[in-house]
Amino acid sequence: MTLKIGVLVSGSGSNLQAIIDNIEEGKIKAEIAVVISNVSGVYALERAKRHNINTEVINHRDFKSREDFDRKLVEILKSYNVELVVMAGFLRVITKVLLDAFPMRVMNIHPALLPAFPGLHVQKQALDYGVKFAGCTVHFADEGVDSGPIIIQGIVPVLDNDTDETLSQRILKVEHRIYPMAIKLYSEGRIKVSGRKVYIDPPLKIEEGSFLTNPPVDI
Ligand code: GAR
Repeated sequence: MTLKIGVLVSGSGSNLQAIIDNIEEGKIKAEIAVVISNVSGVYALERAKRHNINTEVINHRDFKSREDFDRKLVEILKSYNVELVVMAGFLRVITKVLLDAFPMRVMNIHPALLPAFPGLHVQKQALDYGVKFAGCTVHFADEGVDSGPIIIQGIVPVLDNDTDETLSQRILKVEHRIYPMAIKLYSEGRIKVSGRKVYIDPPLKIEEGSFLTNPPVDI
């Protein structure tokens, strides 16, 4: 069975593109049934159209409350028989209305190593804090902001001369690897959730003694 995905976007859609490419290359057995943007004219919509994917624009400003907006999202997602909702640069806080309609079936990507730096402008926050590693997180959405069970994380070093832009680009490259991977695992039924913990079944091996340091340790 091919998993039907609904992708929610607000901007450039480079994560959407990575998901489309992996599906087209046959690496993920899924189909993007619809791409929904809360902002009209964004590049993500162009990307979808170029690949003959259905698009919808729902302007959140047309709704009285977050719940009303989410009810419309649910109506559209259900009309396309969506099974998994993928937030890819969707810059809206979602409510119980969407979560209850898709329990443990809403994923989000965030450009930080959660639980550090939830919220907005997080690459700058990481730089200002002086962390030596930054990264990105794919997680199931819950009612909090960037707070649900973590599926996969990727890390990148922070360099002395990094700017917000260079660090964001380095993180984005990893986002384009981990989001398709999370969706692939989900489509294969390999993601198990127990409380806050997410397990991959059967597990993927990671070298137990592996580690990275920044700066490199040379003694
Ligand atoms: C990505 O970096 C994504 O992690 C971030 O927005 C960017 C969207 O890029 N999402 C958030 O900050 C959500 N809290 P894209 O539109 O090119 O995929």
